[in-house]
Amino acid sequence: MARKVALGVLISGNGSNLQAIINAIESGRLDAEIRIVISNRQDAQGLARAQRHQIPTQVIDHRSHPDREMYDKILIDTLQARQVELVILAGFMRLLSPLFVRLYSNRIMNIHPALLPSFPGLHVQKKAVEYGVRFSGCTVHFVNEECDEGPIIAQAVVPVFAHDTEETLAERILRQEHRIYPSAIQLYSEGRLRVTGRRVVIEGARANEEAALVEPPPET
Ligand code: GAR
Repeated sequence: MARKVALGVLISGNGSNLQAIINAIESGRLDAEIRIVISNRQDAQGLARAQRHQIPTQVIDHRSHPDREMYDKILIDTLQARQVELVILAGFMRLLSPLFVRLYSNRIMNIHPALLPSFPGLHVQKKAVEYGVRFSGCTVHFVNEECDEGPIIAQAVVPVFAHDTEETLAERILRQEHRIYPSAIQLYSEGRLRVTGRRVVIEGARANEEAALVEPPPET
């Protein structure tokens, strides 16, 4: 039987990516165990999702710890107490300090709702619609000391249509987030990810040389 990687999942809101990870574990597609879900907000709906599956939760409110390093030390203590190996940022809307990132070097994953390095930062679905790109998507990456900059593990591409709003594009991207995040974690769990410089090499990855999307689709 494959080993189960011990996860600590950090959230700030709805937690639909957390739910996708829970579902993947429960259906046997992901060899992992969520040791703790931590939210920086008391009102994060993701907390109830975790509790419904008997996963321990903790709220560590950033407003009561204004110093970022102090806050991150509490996060670290909480994760270490549960012997977490891999930290999963699932809609966690806070930057981590260099202290945290160095301690968990190549052991923090984030999901971002755009095709990095395009559209880093916040409100990126709105920015993609406004820019007029024909494609956007999502990116799973390891976290380094720069925001939305770390080595890329997986990406999924979705079309952007003329009638899209920030909300319709966000929903389309989110459906793909729910597919690629659990599978990226599974690659880690299987020991198939190797970081060399800024690149992530995936052992045994298949290559589809003919894969291409064209938007609008060619009419001839
Ligand atoms: C997701 O779209 C995720 O990519 C994004 O927040 C949403 C969380 O949704 N993360 C970021 O923008 C990080 N900078 P969820 O709470 O339903 O998983």
